[in-house]
Amino acid sequence: MSKILISNWKSNPRDPKSAVKLAKAIDKKVVVIAPPFPFLSAVGKVIKKSALGAQDLFWADGPFTGEVSAQDLKILKVKYVIVGHSERRKNLKETDEMINLKLKAALQAGLKAVLCVGEPAVVRKKGIKEAKKFVKKQLTKDLESLKTINYKLKTNLIIAYEPVWAISTEKGSKPDTPQDAVEMIKFIKEILCSKFYILNPKVLYGGSVTAKNAGEFLREKSVDGALIGGVSLRPLEFNRIISNIIRQV
Ligand code: PGA
Repeated sequence: MSKILISNWKSNPRDPKSAVKLAKAIDKKVVVIAPPFPFLSAVGKVIKKSALGAQDLFWADGPFTGEVSAQDLKILKVKYVIVGHSERRKNLKETDEMINLKLKAALQAGLKAVLCVGEPAVVRKKGIKEAKKFVKKQLTKDLESLKTINYKLKTNLIIAYEPVWAISTEKGSKPDTPQDAVEMIKFIKEILCSKFYILNPKVLYGGSVTAKNAGEFLREKSVDGALIGGVSLRPLEFNRIISNIIRQV
């Protein structure tokens, strides 16, 4: 199973010209590019090897002012969609119930859904055991009634383990240690297999991944790739991570 890098641009860059330039600079087969909604169309037109990703979706079509549905994304040739990013959970008060609806809508539409889970700093301070409890609870709620989804579509589920305190926009952020990230990723895989009957699930690590530390995460067999924010806006550095992942494939 090949490893992937998801390039989460968040609300960057500022204009379509810069978005196209950046996309061309990181257009490689192992990369999923997730620009802001207004640049999806322009980026989708120029990439040749990467897959197109979105940073969010809404769970229905219809009279929902300002929202973007799975069908809208498919028209733009989007293949991947991030769901439940901690910045949305925190700033937009997205609940596990909303995330569950979004996730099911994405999978039912045949999109690859990248569900972000991870504990906040207050929980991690109590130790990895407490962090595991938190992540298990999040997964159980976010994946509720996934059984209703056809097995083949369920294999499109990807989890990104992103400890909230490790994300570069958080105060005092630093990456998790590869050892702890691996422990959590193996734990997540066990839950996905035993509770949700998903065999060989893909689980990525995210949170302050840089060209310097990427190799330590990516060489781990259980880490199926990375979700990268800040550094994915810096093509030189991001391309070093791409070269690293290509060596692992
Ligand atoms: P970061 O962001 O790589 O800048 O820490 C990761 C993310 O928020 O998905």
